[in-house]
Amino acid sequence: MVLPGLQSAVRVFPPKTTLKFSPAPLMSDDIATPIVYLNGNFLPLGDAKISVLDRGFLFGDGIYEVIPVYDGHLFRLAEHFERLAQSLAGIRCPPPLTTVEWIAVLTELVVRNGAGDLSIYLQITRGVGPNRDHAFPVGVIPSVFAMATPLIPLPAEKRRTGVRAILIDDLRWGRCNLKVITLLANVLARQQAIDVGAYESILVRNGQITEGAASNVFIVRNGILLTPPKGPLLLPGITRDLVLELATTANLPVREEILTVQDLISAEEIWLTSATKEVVAVIELDDHVIGTGRPGSYYQKMTALYQSFKDRVRRRFDL
Ligand code: PDD
Repeated sequence: MVLPGLQSAVRVFPPKTTLKFSPAPLMSDDIATPIVYLNGNFLPLGDAKISVLDRGFLFGDGIYEVIPVYDGHLFRLAEHFERLAQSLAGIRCPPPLTTVEWIAVLTELVVRNGAGDLSIYLQITRGVGPNRDHAFPVGVIPSVFAMATPLIPLPAEKRRTGVRAILIDDLRWGRCNLKVITLLANVLARQQAIDVGAYESILVRNGQITEGAASNVFIVRNGILLTPPKGPLLLPGITRDLVLELATTANLPVREEILTVQDLISAEEIWLTSATKEVVAVIELDDHVIGTGRPGSYYQKMTALYQSFKDRVRRRFDL
């Protein structure tokens, strides 16, 4: 899916924009002190400050995106922008920047942080109100923050051996398709996994699998790759869609289908997907060994497809 203006803006690199950045390029010379973007300015992370009346701080009233960068190339940018637009619309927040302006900000951010392998965290909150009131303040201006930090891939050992996951109740709200910063239920779910030495919690609502605390879920059953259909109860993951796309292109059968706990326990393979960790094989779910107890052959195939897609992104911009 290509957003209006995106492809043409991408070809004009760096894009033409009316945004003005500080003339002296402030560059990060130390990965511990990234240069971040906050409300029109680039500045060292430690100098980035917001008001305690920001609605992100008071209410968790905001949305975010996490965009990987490979060798300075923003990954699946059109798809991330499209989800960003949906999240903004979902919380009734006007878009603070145009697509062309976003590209200008993000490319500048990438360059100022060394243009290597990075993870961009981008957050928009409804802004700073005059006081603490649940209702939207009149005329409020959204706060925009973006930072680029070194991309930390899944450790090679975990990629080789796979990870453990646990099943827990999905206690979140009914708009999980929006990428909102209000993540307390996800935070607690993830910590519950960490506390028992597992990597991720897989969430179950009314007997159906929704997603992981910070990932989407796939299984392989009878040689078919299955994942729950999109809807209000799970995030439409960019990696999820790419995995479906790569599998389809490689003629691996895929289907979007409601999955139960029993489907997972009896699966040949279980995978988790997310932008920063890519595709991860689950080899143990609670006390159940999944498949052979090792990352399976479909996982190996998908990992190879994913890596070769990334290699193409490293060489081009507009994939
Ligand atoms: N989270 N589901 C949830 C609840 C998530 O938080 C994430 C990713 C995903 C996967 O989405 P994507 O493939 O677009 O990364 C699914 C990010 C990485 C985070 O919160 O840091």
